Amino acid sequence: MSAGVTRIGLLGCGTVGGAVVRALSRNGDTIARASGHRLEMGPILVRDVSRPRPGVDPSLLTDDPARVLDDPGVAMVVEVMGGLDPALDYLRRALEAGKPVVTANKQLLSREGPRLLEIAERSGTELRFEASACAAIPVIKVLRESLLAAEIQAVTGIVNGTTNYMLTEMARAGLSYDDALAQAQELGYAEPDPTEDVNGADAAAKMAILASIAFHARVPFDAVPYEGIDTLTAEDVGLAAELGFVVKLLGIARLVNGSVTVRVHPTLVPEGHRLAAVSGADNAVLLESDTAGEIMLLGPGAGGPETASAIVADILSILGTHRGSFLHNALADAGRPVLPPAEVTSAFYLRLSVADRPGVLANVASIFGEEQLSIRTVVQKGEGDGARLVLVLHPGVEGRLLSAVGRVAALAEVRDRPVVLRVLGSGDDG
Ligand code: NAP
Ligand code: HSE
Repeated sequence: MSAGVTRIGLLGCGTVGGAVVRALSRNGDTIARASGHRLEMGPILVRDVSRPRPGVDPSLLTDDPARVLDDPGVAMVVEVMGGLDPALDYLRRALEAGKPVVTANKQLLSREGPRLLEIAERSGTELRFEASACAAIPVIKVLRESLLAAEIQAVTGIVNGTTNYMLTEMARAGLSYDDALAQAQELGYAEPDPTEDVNGADAAAKMAILASIAFHARVPFDAVPYEGIDTLTAEDVGLAAELGFVVKLLGIARLVNGSVTVRVHPTLVPEGHRLAAVSGADNAVLLESDTAGEIMLLGPGAGGPETASAIVADILSILGTHRGSFLHNALADAGRPVLPPAEVTSAFYLRLSVADRPGVLANVASIFGEEQLSIRTVVQKGEGDGARLVLVLHPGVEGRLLSAVGRVAALAEVRDRPVVLRVLGSGDDG
């Protein structure tokens, strides 16, 4: 199928917008194969057109919103400028003109979402907002589609990447509050004004959106009481740790006797709880339901490329897919070759039962050396007239490992068939 051209107008080209431009240009072929649409970017609205932006054609930049909103050639609008004003007006204009909109703007959606969705509906178009909560984690899609019939009872989450990163780095590296915040800003996790991250408002906006979808209820931002980490002291974090707790900024939404409650506050989480292990800028959302049990979604919760991934997914959902495309034909797609198992690289654990004679270890080691396999750890344990030899190898090619194991098994000093297990670790792909 030959791809038609669809032009996307962009409102904002900062951390997220720049990443969207780069992701769309990198994934152009995949999108065209899935949707039958070849995407063209621009115009792109910014405040400062003179600032260079990596991977972005400067001739597409404009500081005039009408160039994006009133251009009949723009078929879809992506809003990644943030804030309420003028974003609300721009989105309203785009939707009223019948143009589908994708946005990452949780501040706006948690306050004006129902109004914007009504305009979209009236105009026969769509408003999508996966990127507004938990960046790369497809939590809205899961709640809206996959768990539609699950009757969710509770949504508990770490939904702000900046503060989770700060709490992790303050505990792990002893960073001060200000240094941890500066790092989160540098890494592109924080909001343009990070006050909303640290005071809990960003998490409250996301919880309002998630609770609305999970419980099929209208939960506006104003209905979510919130506290942030800005009043948390190192002393309380330390004392909580002594008592076996990790302090996390949690969003907690529940159904209580048929009514919805949503709040955000720093919370002591028992060390063994799944949410306690969520570190750095990761987010995690624990969904509880009577029918589907507990489901935890975990992944990058902030950052330009991470958020762009959700925006591209929304664009693809709006464009739809065509018969014969990857999405209709997912198990039958032959876009890439499959690596033969013998060429896969893994780290290995080996246990050998050997006669306890001089030179055994040297013979075994020289076989691995000849097969280009490097030994990381050796443990030898005596047992009667024999020994148990346990080796952990650095990642190596599976075919060579099997050849080495065959040669080792054939040594006169080796008594039983060697036991081979794979070790999960860095540098392997198997
Ligand atoms: P950002 O880096 O500050 O980028 C904002 C962009 O919008 C900039 O290009 C800015 O222009 C433009 N802009 C802002 N106000 C404008 C106005 N009045 N007129 C014209 N252009 C304007 O912010 P960001 O981090 O990309 O965040 C953007 C949105 O994504 C926010 O809603 C945020 O909550 C959401 N989000 C962010 C993340 C993340 O990890 N950063 C994750 C999920 C969602 P200039 O470049 O000229 O200043
Ligand atoms: N500032 C937000 C955060 C970006 O740190 O979670 C993702 O929405």
